[in-house]
Amino acid sequence: MRERFPALAAGAAYLDGPGGSQTPQEVIDAVAGYLRDSNANLGGAFATSTATDDSVARARLDAAEFTGAEPQGIAFGANMTTLNFQLAHAVGRTLQAGDEIVVTQLDHDANVSPWLLVARDHDLVVRTAPIRTDDVTLDEDALEELIGKRTRVVAFTLGSNAVGSIPNAARIAAAAHRAGALAWADGVHLAPHRRLRARAWGIDVLLCSPYKFFGPHLGIAAIRPDLAESLPADRVRPASETPPGHRFETGTQSHEAIAGTAAAVDYLRSLGDGELDAAFERIERHETALAERFLAGIPDHLTLYGIPRPKGRTPTFCFNLAGHEPRSVAARLAERGIYVWDGNYYALEPMRALGLGPAGAVRAGFVHYTTEDEVDRLLEALAAV
Ligand SMILES: Cc1ncc(COP(=O)(O)O)c(C=O)c1O
Repeated sequence: MRERFPALAAGAAYLDGPGGSQTPQEVIDAVAGYLRDSNANLGGAFATSTATDDSVARARLDAAEFTGAEPQGIAFGANMTTLNFQLAHAVGRTLQAGDEIVVTQLDHDANVSPWLLVARDHDLVVRTAPIRTDDVTLDEDALEELIGKRTRVVAFTLGSNAVGSIPNAARIAAAAHRAGALAWADGVHLAPHRRLRARAWGIDVLLCSPYKFFGPHLGIAAIRPDLAESLPADRVRPASETPPGHRFETGTQSHEAIAGTAAAVDYLRSLGDGELDAAFERIERHETALAERFLAGIPDHLTLYGIPRPKGRTPTFCFNLAGHEPRSVAARLAERGIYVWDGNYYALEPMRALGLGPAGAVRAGFVHYTTEDEVDRLLEALAAV
């Protein structure tokens, strides 16, 4: 499988997956092939335009299968953040002063700031569900207590891009629905690690980004189709309103990235002999083994922030080394061809809750193309710092 990723041939250990993954050749070919053979706008009477219509329609089906949602509610956009600002703005227009939004301390800021701004514009109240700082997991009991009669949206993450913790999505969505609120999930970090199941978990809006699951730079929102139809969308007058998810696709999309996204879903299917479920079972098994290997070998001078076991988390590890700035650790690893992130990765809330200053922490993330040898290289390099 690694041979399908040209970038991996150069020998660097790409442990920056939570910031963006590498792409297999079939994704690269789909992007280039679209631009070479079918480059056009939608809805015309000629071959390249009908090919573009078909390509986008197919990608909508693939995005729906990938997110576990209906194709009619799929909206493509520039990235998750831009889509979330747009959708939160639409929801805000339906709310009354004094209505409440619940956000969490585990979330990336892309699922916090849109709600803070909407709250400011519409005089809403924002309540923040805390994390437990010992293992950096979401305190779901405390979150449930924050949900009340005025709660309209519960915005939470399916997986933390900082520390890897995976909250119980079905439990949170059920609590939101009991109060008549929308369950609004950020699936960006979880997407390359676990099968997403928007409808089965009861999620009304699930957002993710193909560039984190081996595709090109793009955002996807999987919106419950009736909600996509009823939310006020900012549209130009001639734009089509169907399918409903399309109402949030303003202007011309990156058709090449949409074609590449369909190829990324195809690539993932191929890992499970045609089935996404089987692919993600294999991915999880491999990633769990990598996480065990890493956790068993961490040096004494490393402070890990997060669950110290493979269960309940993705293989994304956030840590500091005693006496070293995160940036200098990342630079020392880079000298050995090991690419990791440092800073806060826009996960402002958890980093603040952990008392980490602006320098933040180091983050090493494994994905299915990470090898045991790369984990060992990381451990050796950390021991040497
Ligand atoms: C958990 C999480 N949510 C949201 C985002 C923002 O995604 P995008 O870059 O598509 O706006 C990121 C990006 O790092 C992320 O990791």
